[in-house]
Amino acid sequence: MPSVLLCPPDYFDVVDQKNPYMTRKSAVDRGKARSQWDSLCSVLQQSGCDIETIAPVEGLEDMVFAANQVFVGEKSGYGKFAVPSQMVYPSRQREVPHFAEWFRQHEYQIVDLDYGTDYLEGHGDLIWHPDGSRIYAGYGFRSTQGGVQKFSDAMSKMGIPVVPLDLVDPFCYHLDTCLCPLTNEAALVFPGAFAAHALASIHQYWPRVHLLAAEEAHRFMGNGIVINGNYISPYMTPQLQQILESEGLRPLIVDTSEFEKAGGSCFCMKTFLP
Ligand code: ARG
Repeated sequence: MPSVLLCPPDYFDVVDQKNPYMTRKSAVDRGKARSQWDSLCSVLQQSGCDIETIAPVEGLEDMVFAANQVFVGEKSGYGKFAVPSQMVYPSRQREVPHFAEWFRQHEYQIVDLDYGTDYLEGHGDLIWHPDGSRIYAGYGFRSTQGGVQKFSDAMSKMGIPVVPLDLVDPFCYHLDTCLCPLTNEAALVFPGAFAAHALASIHQYWPRVHLLAAEEAHRFMGNGIVINGNYISPYMTPQLQQILESEGLRPLIVDTSEFEKAGGSCFCMKTFLP
């Protein structure tokens, strides 16, 4: 049974503007956020997932986005490992030690990188190919090219290639908003989020690239969770539904409107545990 780590939204809020979605036009409704988070958990459970949680910390308003604080993986000969992030924003930097400690306690090897002035934001920007053969690494808004390079050097010691991808759309400030692996051969991609050479790399590695429109990507339809034949997404369009059907996936809708006010949706709120 796949396991997934989430953080309850007890202290979730929008207090600043870390990305263009955080306009603070309407305040966060914490009750509503809690019920949306509960629904995401039940849909994950109904999809055959085991849920693990990390304790939320007061004052860490974005900790609910449990995809960003570490990058996790498993490699034969090395075992399970977690790479703590270097987040751009100070409140988010304070989330990282809590996650690193959780993974240490769960017997993951902690791989600390020497970031210097670079940044790297976990599974926000680092996405596994489903078969574990390589990792796609977005940079430009949060993670830096240098951060990706340092990560790539560390992964190469384990024999895992990293494909750097230059991001160019501020509404797709993390890779997980514009690239979503559906199968080993097919991915959902919003082409407008990538520099030309990055898009060319994507085409090189994925035989089937399904294109999302800007309106779909900017409503987090490429920020879905693929799990046991389901695609968990905050919204659906006929076009996306058709793509999913052609890849043998069933769409499941979970309302994440409160979390979208902070610039995140389904994918951002969890980390799959190897
Ligand atoms: N407010 C959070 C931030 O700007 C949202 C993070 C969303 N996470 C993601 N993986 N895209 O850091």
